[in-house]
Amino acid sequence: MATMAETPDREPRPGNGGSPGERPTASPPAAERLLEAVGLEVAYGAIQVVWGVDLAVDRGQVVAVIGPNGAGKTTTLRALAGLLPALRGAIRFAGHDVTGEPAHVRVRRHLSMVPEGRQLWPRMTVEENLLMGAFPPPLRPRARQGLEKVYELFPRLRERRRQPCGTLSGGEQQMCAIGRGLMAEPRLLMLDEPSLGLAPILVEQVFQQIRSIAAGGVTILLAAQNANQALAVADHAYVMEAGRIALAGSGAELSASDHVRRAYLGIGDA
Ligand SMILES: Nc1ncnc2c1ncn2[C@@H]1O[C@H](COP(=O)(O)OP(=O)(O)O)[C@@H](O)[C@H]1O
Ligand SMILES: [Mg+2]
Repeated sequence: MATMAETPDREPRPGNGGSPGERPTASPPAAERLLEAVGLEVAYGAIQVVWGVDLAVDRGQVVAVIGPNGAGKTTTLRALAGLLPALRGAIRFAGHDVTGEPAHVRVRRHLSMVPEGRQLWPRMTVEENLLMGAFPPPLRPRARQGLEKVYELFPRLRERRRQPCGTLSGGEQQMCAIGRGLMAEPRLLMLDEPSLGLAPILVEQVFQQIRSIAAGGVTILLAAQNANQALAVADHAYVMEAGRIALAGSGAELSASDHVRRAYLGIGDA
């Protein structure tokens, strides 16, 4: 999991080496900002689907992007991961401009993504699938340790480690996909629809697990149609509609917003 000890690439802070005592108070210190997208726009060929997205994730936070199907959540996450190019705008991660960097370079910076639909290898065992997450050579020497951490977090996966992934329940497969993401020792773990298709009791479980991963020091950015649970665990959240950020605020603020309550939580009327 993310090793907070090795943080060589902090952003220079205003005031360092300059005139002391002048600290901006309105926003958190720059060193706390892990991921930032400014004016991000993404297109599939000639069809633009994401417009002017400003989004920030601070170290240690759980941040959620909620919104209806087709709003552009997956597209945004894929662009942040480097799986789709940014048409316009900039992406900074851990103090670096990563806008033009391919996905595998961002993975080496410990930015990893668990895709929607899990995308596991059904005939490979749980353990083999997990080990795929530590495939990049720099990670391999620590793969055993990584497995131990994943098994501590998900004891169920230890029990089933020799079983083909295709024979797991939906909830167990989701654990396996998240575990594989953790094998890359992410500083930021992006989870696309972590609870889609799961029974309500498992949905709750997955979000509890997300909380404990965050408590273990991994920053989380998740995209979810399931606004209820996402807002309950999120420190900060964005509402995405038709390719744009329509609203942003703390999980609690958004849960209290009339628009969010009507459109996403099924509560309240006019
Ligand atoms: N591979 C693709 N090619 C063209 N259009 C796409 C592709 N993937 C998604 N889209 C379109 O982009 C928009 C945003 O989709 P997506 O990011 O998947 O939304 P969400 O994750 O919020 O459901 C939708 O209109 C969708 O139809
Ligand atoms: Mg999606």
